[in-house]
Amino acid sequence: MEQMLFVNACVRGERSRTLLLARHFLEVYQAGHPDHVITERDLCRERLQPQYPEILAERDALWEAGRLDQPMFEAARQFAAADRIVIAAPFWDLNYPAILKIYLERISVANITFGYNEKGEMTGLCRARDMIFLTTRGGAYQEAGLGWMEMGARHLEALCSMYGIDRFQCLAVEGLDDERRDREGMMLVGLTQAEALADSLS
Ligand SMILES: Cc1cc2nc3c(=O)[nH]c(=O)nc-3n(C[C@H](O)[C@H](O)[C@H](O)COP(=O)(O)O)c2cc1C
Repeated sequence: MEQMLFVNACVRGERSRTLLLARHFLEVYQAGHPDHVITERDLCRERLQPQYPEILAERDALWEAGRLDQPMFEAARQFAAADRIVIAAPFWDLNYPAILKIYLERISVANITFGYNEKGEMTGLCRARDMIFLTTRGGAYQEAGLGWMEMGARHLEALCSMYGIDRFQCLAVEGLDDERRDREGMMLVGLTQAEALADSLS
């Protein structure tokens, strides 16, 4: 049975437009793939802690001892085993919220999500064939030719390469904090794009 992992980093919870986009995407996806299992990780509910020195020391000790089966590495094992990964996060300070970075640091574990071959080259160990990133942004960066300022989707795409995930797709609804715009209309267009994206997946 196909496993989809939904990483929810929508800090505003049920008030989040990004979460609305993601829920719609997942609903359409589930309708088209009734036998696929969607598992959600709500990062805010988990109250994930940054890797403070004592947490990192514990992680290093477990890793050195080869104890990758420990709860410390559960999130990394889950990420590595998923067939498809969906991440939803708003655009914050030209990037994504810190809670998502904390999660990514937790799941980036050598010999679980990535490794090195005999030539010393980095190789991805994740099973997923694609990652889908859903986001909303206050400003309209693409339209203004300011795409280079965007660091969130670009970082996730680079991580896909490190994890061995072949395909990265990003759906971004932009300009939602600009009161001069038809923001409801733009959100509706985004929801339709989310439907199309969900339908396009095998
Ligand atoms: C802490 C914070 C930082 C933000 N930084 C940016 C930013 O750098 N650029 C931008 O265009 N919008 C920024 N925004 C606006 C959000 O991207 C926008 O409102 C988004 O739709 C929020 O998504 P949500 O409804 O899922 O929380 C920021 C919002 C917050 C709360």
